[in-house]
Amino acid sequence: MSLRELARRTHYSHSYLSKVENGVKSPTAELARRCDHALGMGGALMEAARRELPGTVTEPQPWPRPMQLPAGPVVFVGRSAELARMDRLLTEREIPAGSVPILTVEGPAGVGKTALALRWARQHLDDFDDGALFADLHGSDATRHPTDPGEVLDGFLRALGVRPDRIPDNTEQRESLFRSALAGRRMLVVLDDVASSDQVNPVLPGSADCHVLVTSRRRLTGLTVVSDAVSLTLGQLGRGESIDLMTAIIGEQRAAQDPAAVAAIIRRCSRLPLDLRVVAEHITALPQTPLAAFVDEWTAVNQRFPNSQRGHQNKLTE
Ligand SMILES: Nc1ncnc2c1ncn2[C@@H]1O[C@H](COP(=O)(O)OP(=O)(O)O)[C@@H](O)[C@H]1O
Ligand SMILES: [Mg+2]
Repeated sequence: MSLRELARRTHYSHSYLSKVENGVKSPTAELARRCDHALGMGGALMEAARRELPGTVTEPQPWPRPMQLPAGPVVFVGRSAELARMDRLLTEREIPAGSVPILTVEGPAGVGKTALALRWARQHLDDFDDGALFADLHGSDATRHPTDPGEVLDGFLRALGVRPDRIPDNTEQRESLFRSALAGRRMLVVLDDVASSDQVNPVLPGSADCHVLVTSRRRLTGLTVVSDAVSLTLGQLGRGESIDLMTAIIGEQRAAQDPAAVAAIIRRCSRLPLDLRVVAEHITALPQTPLAAFVDEWTAVNQRFPNSQRGHQNKLTE
C-alpha cells in the first residue's frame, strides 16, 4: 500500500506519515492503532506499540459503540459518481489541522439526499471505529418544529453512554460535554434534514477524527465560517438510473413489456426518485393493469387539473 493510500485510510497527512517513516517524528500509540486498523494487522501494531512505547498505550475504554444509522432503502440505484465525489470531498482530501470535515448534501425534496447519505455512511462504516450517530433534525417537516440542538445533544450523549443524570440542562454545557466525549474517537455524525447552520453548529464534534455528513434542502452558507465544510448539490436521477429504479420495483418482465410507457412515466416524474418510487409501487399494486393505462390515467388527470404539478401523485396514491 502506498503512503498516500495509508494517509487516506488513517486520516493522517501524507507529510506527517512521511516524517514518521524517515524518523523525523516519533510514532504514537494512536498512529499504531489506526495503522493496525487500516492494514488489517489484527492488533499486531498495537502490541508492538505496547512494547516500544511504554506508558503511551491506553486500553480502550468500555464505551458503547453507537450505531444509529437507519437502514436506508432496500432498492438503491446509481449515484456512483456522487458517491465517488463524496469520497473525494470527505475522506480523500487533506483536512486542515484542527478543523472538522463536513459534507452537506443539498437538493430539493425527494431527490434522494437521505438515501445517498445513508448509502455512503454504510459503505464507510469500517472507517469509523467508534461508530455512527444519526439524528433527523426535521428541518423541512411541515408538521413539526425543527429539532432543538440541545435535544439532539441529549440523544447523542445518551448513545455515547453518558448517564442521563449527568447530562447538563444547558445546551452550551451539553456541547462541551459532547466534544469531550468525542475527543480521541473516530465517529461519523449524520445530521439529516437540517434547516439552518444554527441547528448544526452546536452539534459539531471538535476534532478532525470525526466526520460529519449533513443533508439539507437549503444552502447552509454559515457552516463554512466555522468548519471545513464542503457541499454537493444533488440533482434528479439519470435516465438509465431512473429505468433501473423502475425496473427494480416493477420487475424486469413488466418493464420490458412496454419500454415507451416506462420512458413516459420517467419523464413525467422528472426523474425524481421519490415520485418514481410512488408511481412504481402503485404499478406493483395493480399487477393486471397495462403500463400504458397509467400514462393515460395521468394524462387525463393533468388535463383535468392543469395547474397541479403533482396531480399524478395525488391520483396515484389515493
Ligand atoms: N438512488 C436511489 N435509489 C433508489 N431509491 C432512491 C434513491 N434515492 C432516493 N430513493 C428513494 O426516493 C425517496 C426519496 O428519497 P430521500 O432520500 O428520502 O429524499 P430526500 O432526503 O432528498 O428528501 C425514498 O423513498 C428513497 O428510498
Ligand atoms: Mg431526507
